[in-house]
Amino acid sequence: MCGIVGYVGHQNAVPILVEGLHRLEYRGYDSAGLAVQRKHGIEIHKRQGKVREMEASLPKRFAGVVGVGHTRWATHGAPSDGNAHPQSDTSGRIAVVHNGIIENAHELRAQLEARGVVFASQTDTEVLAQLIAGVETDSLEDAVRSALRAITGTYGIAVMDARHPDQIVVARNGSPVILGIGDKEMFIASDASALVRHTQQAIYLDDGEIAVVEARGFRVTSLDALPSTKQPTTLQLVDDQMSKGSFSHFTMKEIYEQPDAVRGTLRGRLDRRFSTARLDGLNLPARDLLRFRRIKIIGCGSACISGFLGARMIERLSRIPCDAESAAEFRYRNPVIEDDTLYVAVSQSGETFDTLAAVEEIKRKGGAVVGIVNVVGSTIARACGRGVYLHAGPEIAVVSTKTFMSTLVAFVLLALHLGRMKDVSAGAGRRIIDALDQLPDALGSLIANQAQMTDLAKKYAHFANAYFVGRNEGYALAMEGALKLKEVSYLHAEAYPASELKHGPLALISPDTLTVVVIPSDDLFEKNVSTIEEIRARRGPVIALSHTATLPVAVDDVIVVPQLHELLDPLLMLVPLQQFAFRVAIERGCDIDQPRNLAKSVTVE
Ligand code: F6R
Repeated sequence: MCGIVGYVGHQNAVPILVEGLHRLEYRGYDSAGLAVQRKHGIEIHKRQGKVREMEASLPKRFAGVVGVGHTRWATHGAPSDGNAHPQSDTSGRIAVVHNGIIENAHELRAQLEARGVVFASQTDTEVLAQLIAGVETDSLEDAVRSALRAITGTYGIAVMDARHPDQIVVARNGSPVILGIGDKEMFIASDASALVRHTQQAIYLDDGEIAVVEARGFRVTSLDALPSTKQPTTLQLVDDQMSKGSFSHFTMKEIYEQPDAVRGTLRGRLDRRFSTARLDGLNLPARDLLRFRRIKIIGCGSACISGFLGARMIERLSRIPCDAESAAEFRYRNPVIEDDTLYVAVSQSGETFDTLAAVEEIKRKGGAVVGIVNVVGSTIARACGRGVYLHAGPEIAVVSTKTFMSTLVAFVLLALHLGRMKDVSAGAGRRIIDALDQLPDALGSLIANQAQMTDLAKKYAHFANAYFVGRNEGYALAMEGALKLKEVSYLHAEAYPASELKHGPLALISPDTLTVVVIPSDDLFEKNVSTIEEIRARRGPVIALSHTATLPVAVDDVIVVPQLHELLDPLLMLVPLQQFAFRVAIERGCDIDQPRNLAKSVTVE
């Protein structure tokens, strides 16, 4: 969370930093700030609010060829001008931008205060700035190294020192820092999206590394001052993927991009000859895969929900017991790691802290873990070392849409791959492949059909509460529908298994509570009809998400979705739920791409 940018070179850093912050704003957007080296020392400008507000208030002569910038998602201290980054020491000699959390900040602050240091903010980052300023040395790199030895927690930092005006020192432990190599200029960012406009050549720092960055190049060492050899990576992002184009919101653009995202995930992976999926990145030959007796999927938020759906798909086709769990819950319960279990870590960004920590825990205990990740070269992808890349393209809106869809496609492929090693026949495999072939176009037609969602949004946007219910896959899909709605529209939405309604939540059903019922034409259709009857008996309004317009029970509205193959039902049914959330948020005047209190890529615990 939060975004870091930096520049050392011959151009004015300010427009480069501001443009970079706009690109990183989806990582945090409660305040923003810049620091530049000027003749008389470091000058800082920062503001609570969006990057555009900070930009609009920049003093005219604010310029310099070395600078750093930050867009914040508050951890220590509420959003305010004073708590915004860069943070500096009391003398104003040091400027620090920081992503992550310093866990022993309170203790260190108390020690510094006892020595007479007066703090100007509530942030953990100021503690770091004061610590660096207090180290007696002529080398900024040594001062940063020494201060970092005193702290515990996670960080990606960029540090400037008025005494070393040609340098920026960066370091990483748990929060990404990437260097972009230019022509006699260097760029720094916490996310490659802020670099692609300037260079394709990048260096990813690893945890425990420090780099001294100057216009002519960089030098990387470890926290113990041992040299590290780094090879540049070529970034795969394309600059125009990062703009909204003709769309009003990234969220809608990304909903529209789903057919292409699915094509990206499927590309080269359908093996018609053997009616199976090719997943070479798993790097697990059939003999190794078949020895797993269980599969456990972990992830956070929507990634975890995709795991619930993936688990059903895998279990259905392969008959290997499979379940999913929140990565955070998993890592904190001292999990039993078994060598006949395959662990699957799901993360769009590949940087989610809890998911990464769970992966490390599995690896430490000797478990086998593969990743389902969108961002190539991200920390989780590298920690897993093998898995399935989504190739869905960059996702900028805070809420996941196209990457959720692509993750489901990756799970269909994994289920097919495993299923065909077990009891799924070639004919059954072929039917799945045929359906996957048709999926992008079917999604495209569904997405184009906006009118009904706009009408439904107008009708229900004033509700204060909504339930999303379903059974099995329908319940997992209900969870995603409820999460999307609450995130973007702030309408309180809760998912429940339809079978559980009568065990409690029915008490809340009334004409004022909307219920969205996921009712596919499957074996549980009749059961879901009964659920609708129960809600209607309490005069609760119902939207049915169904495969048929003619339900044997009266509902207020029906959203009809086509069927390709029952394995793909959740993928097609997902689209109206995304659109409903988006349209309700429009009606309620919400900031859809950057919902309050949230940020993309949760790199703190
Ligand atoms: C919800 C959403 C989040 C993420 C979660 C995990 O719309 O986007 O719940 O799914 O923060 O993020 P990744 O997939 O990057 O690990």
